[in-house]
Amino acid sequence: MATRPYDVLVIGSGAAGLTAALALAQEHRVLVLAKGALNSGSTAWAQGGIAAVLDAGDTFENHIRDTMIAGAGLNRQETVEFVIERAPQAIERLRELGVPFNTEGPNLHLTREGGHSHRRIVHVDDATGWAVQAALLKAAEEHPNITLLPNHTCIDFITGRHEVRYSGSGRVWGVYALDTLTGRVEAHVAHVTVLASGGAGRCYLFSTAPRGATGDGIAMAWRAGARVGNMEMMQFHPTCLYNLEVKNFLITEAVRGEGGRLINPRTGKRFMEFYDPERLELAPRDIVARAIDSEIKRFGLDYVHLDISHKPADFVTGHFPTIHEKLLSLGIDMTTGPIPVVPAQHYTCGGVMIDLDGRTDLPGLYAAGECTESGLHGANRLASNSLLECFVFGDAAARHILANWDSFEAPPPICPWDESRVTDSDEEVVIKQNWTEIRRFMWNYVGIVRTTKRLERAQHRIKLLNGEVNEYYAHFRVSTDLIELRNLLQSADLIVRSALKRHESRGLHYILDYPDTNQSPTDTVLVP
Ligand code: FAD
Ligand code: SIN
Repeated sequence: MATRPYDVLVIGSGAAGLTAALALAQEHRVLVLAKGALNSGSTAWAQGGIAAVLDAGDTFENHIRDTMIAGAGLNRQETVEFVIERAPQAIERLRELGVPFNTEGPNLHLTREGGHSHRRIVHVDDATGWAVQAALLKAAEEHPNITLLPNHTCIDFITGRHEVRYSGSGRVWGVYALDTLTGRVEAHVAHVTVLASGGAGRCYLFSTAPRGATGDGIAMAWRAGARVGNMEMMQFHPTCLYNLEVKNFLITEAVRGEGGRLINPRTGKRFMEFYDPERLELAPRDIVARAIDSEIKRFGLDYVHLDISHKPADFVTGHFPTIHEKLLSLGIDMTTGPIPVVPAQHYTCGGVMIDLDGRTDLPGLYAAGECTESGLHGANRLASNSLLECFVFGDAAARHILANWDSFEAPPPICPWDESRVTDSDEEVVIKQNWTEIRRFMWNYVGIVRTTKRLERAQHRIKLLNGEVNEYYAHFRVSTDLIELRNLLQSADLIVRSALKRHESRGLHYILDYPDTNQSPTDTVLVP
């Protein structure tokens, strides 16, 4: 069954999706679909903050330079300038929506993170994302032109192949989505679709990303014919809490920004001076994550220590109330002792290729946020640049759609979802087994330090699993777990293929067979 057409369909209710929805709703009726709860994406989990040049002593040029240094020169300068110059406006819009950023006298309080040459991170304590998500959701819920539909798992884009009068074109008319409460699959059609479905972090066994970060949108866009870029650039955050019960709790980079030190628990010594003597703990993330990985492997450790207990207790609790409370509940007091930390997957730098207007290769499909490759992050994202990217590109996509509205035709009649050849699954265990297998080999073979041999092993596993998953998908009724498994595998394939194509070490892609960095930076672009 096809639902009533909306003007615009937005996939995802995080920072990118809701920014686009709020701008579009000024003139059009917008439907927002989300998998699970409306606040279950990465946005609500963001801790450190949002990077923006707001201090008189700082400049756009500084922020641009820091972004390009972190990105190891792979960034598109045009995109970097576009985003960074729009940061102050984005912060202003969030303040208008009521985000209670921390202040210092009449100004916003700015904290510091790795790779930034100046203090420029605006934040709400150490739980910035929670406040941003709440403000955006409140505005969207109150907007008469926005309909929010949680618990809808998008499966695939509707294109010319699904028109009742088959055209076979790549024009996107919306999505087929599973209503997880009724178990029915419906066609949601619209004049234009904006993809804002977040990253693919859950391809890895250890990740700070939420459960739903399974690369659904990237895989859907690839299957529909869109190019994806730089998928090998998977960011590992240096400091995820090491705890046997709590597996993916982030310890914000701002802890290091405010003076936290990394210490080898065996030697009791700071070790960053051996890896980056100038920037120490505030070197870009790829360098700090590799340094920790190296210490862990060299000394046979389970974790390293992050210590900020040399600062006054009220300074620590004042800056990091959420983390302090969470750690206390686990028996760790960060005001008196160190925190055990390990690196974990954190951010998907690559994704669906877009231009400065958020346009993908597919007519009728725009994209914004972590699911995209906009050119901002290059080979390694600078801390706190990703929420910023969501606000800037969510807005840019909306503006382009508004300005070109007359060029978008109404959707034609669409075929309903075909369930005539599937039955209920009788072996859910296959899904669970394959999920775990993918995440484990991606962690072991496609992690922080790579080799061609390990990548080829991963590729071999992916080929075998592909046959199994496709057969399962063809025979059984879809569930969210199955949809995600298919996308996780597709995303893993894109990551490994991209990693095998890059014959150099650059930023996050560190491969022992090619330790040098080529002179001219080139994107890894996969074409369907
Ligand atoms: P998300 O916020 O992840 O939203 C994705 C949306 O898509 C969700 O609504 C989800 O339900 C929906 N979706 C996904 N698949 C489907 C599907 N199949 N069908 C329907 N809907 C779907 N960045 C910063 O700049 N500063 C920080 O301080 C910071 N801290 C972070 C801390 C943590 C722990 C993590 C994990 C990330 C952090 N990041 C930070 C990164 C940043 O939070 C994300 O990059 C950003 O929030 C992504 O926003 P988004 O709108 O692109 O996607
Ligand atoms: C953090 O708070 O360390 C995360 C910041 C980011 O991912 O940009």
